Amino acid sequence: MSHAEDHEGTRRDFLYYATAGAGAVTAGAAIWPLINQMNPSADVQALSSILVDVSGVEPGTQISVKFLGKPVFIRRRTEREIEAARAVELSQLPDRNAQNRNDMALDASDQNRTLDEAGEWLVMIGVCTHLGCVPIGDGAGDFGGWFCPCHGSHYDTAGRIRKGPAPENLWIPVAEFVDDTTIKLG
Ligand code: FES
Repeated sequence: MSHAEDHEGTRRDFLYYATAGAGAVTAGAAIWPLINQMNPSADVQALSSILVDVSGVEPGTQISVKFLGKPVFIRRRTEREIEAARAVELSQLPDRNAQNRNDMALDASDQNRTLDEAGEWLVMIGVCTHLGCVPIGDGAGDFGGWFCPCHGSHYDTAGRIRKGPAPENLWIPVAEFVDDTTIKLG
């Protein structure tokens, strides 16, 4: 094997292990109750956008789908989660940007991070903004949202960083409802 081939092989191995590692974290944390509800026809179309059927998602639960190589969390929040997120003042937040890829000028108010006005639907890229681990969901951490055990980042019920080394809120991807029960990502 030439040196160049060897180098390529090493790079591929790294990518493989990074992916496998993320999978292990999510599987171990049991936060993927439903497996990738990815639209197969969209999958074939190079994943520029996908449609996700959320008709089976009950309040207080979430699903994860894989989009552009990353997990995307789609959570249907309870009233309690919405109230907790909306009671937080911007001054309490380490990152005051909504990190919403639909509009990067928005502040981190809960209303600017949810997909619907009532705040029931929260769609986020499930990648910790510290070093890229996949946080644990379902009320984990000190703020009842998500917790990244890699280095101890705590996110609230709106997915905003509240404690720990992560510098930014969990990112909101470009997303929209295309009908009552279908979310389009991308
Ligand atoms: S990668 Fe999440 S806290 Fe370090």
